[in-house]
Amino acid sequence: MTDLAPSPCHDRPDAWFAWIWQRLGPRLEHRGLAAHRAWTVAGLHGRVIEVGCGDGLMFAHYPPAVDEVVAVEPEPRLRALAEQAARRAPVPVTVLPGCAESLPLADASCDAAVAMLVLCSVAEPRTAARELRRVLRDDGELRFHEHVRAATPLGQRLQRSLDVVWPHIGGGCHTARPTVTTLAEAGLTPWLLERLPVSSRVPAPTLPWVRGVAAPRA
Ligand SMILES: C[S@@+](CC[C@H](N)C(=O)[O-])C[C@H]1O[C@@H](n2cnc3c(N)ncnc32)[C@H](O)[C@@H]1O
Repeated sequence: MTDLAPSPCHDRPDAWFAWIWQRLGPRLEHRGLAAHRAWTVAGLHGRVIEVGCGDGLMFAHYPPAVDEVVAVEPEPRLRALAEQAARRAPVPVTVLPGCAESLPLADASCDAAVAMLVLCSVAEPRTAARELRRVLRDDGELRFHEHVRAATPLGQRLQRSLDVVWPHIGGGCHTARPTVTTLAEAGLTPWLLERLPVSSRVPAPTLPWVRGVAAPRA
């Protein structure tokens, strides 16, 4: 159950991206993403907020110690699929319309938060990061798996050029975001950060991928 009024950011329809992700998501699962999902939620317990759950591919991986997942998703077609996935999930999952920038949960009400391939797409990443910090208990944790800004100046230039068009065809995805820095500035300090080797099928501008765990700071 939610703690607050519904998020003012409710529906953000994007039929093109929903069509793409329904097809791309399952293919990536078979190319290694499923294992990354399992890693991302391993060992979680209690109440979990998942932001931008898409069609709910993460739900099957939550371990039994999770009491409840609250998943927000602004795209209505993906959300309808996530609701179906929630019915098959091994733990209770509530799927809600909403955005990471305005979570329908009380302060310090979650043991964990999960962000997988979503902070590239949110409209206001700093606000989203602050919201994730707000809903986490002080002893909670954020698990994240994101693609981020390239390490080299050449890679960053390529990403910045591409970001003129890429968000329009990729569901708002930006390739050049310094997501780990954004999380740290919002009070979520990564204590585990791994750079991932990614399949050659992933478009080069959306590399590197990182995964990690961040702890809330007071
Ligand atoms: C690449 S998909 C990833 C979906 C899912 N996290 C997964 O791992 O399969 C990005 C998702 O972010 C969602 N999204 C876009 N803007 C958002 C926002 N402001 N808040 C929450 N989710 C958002 C999209 O609708 C889409 O479902």
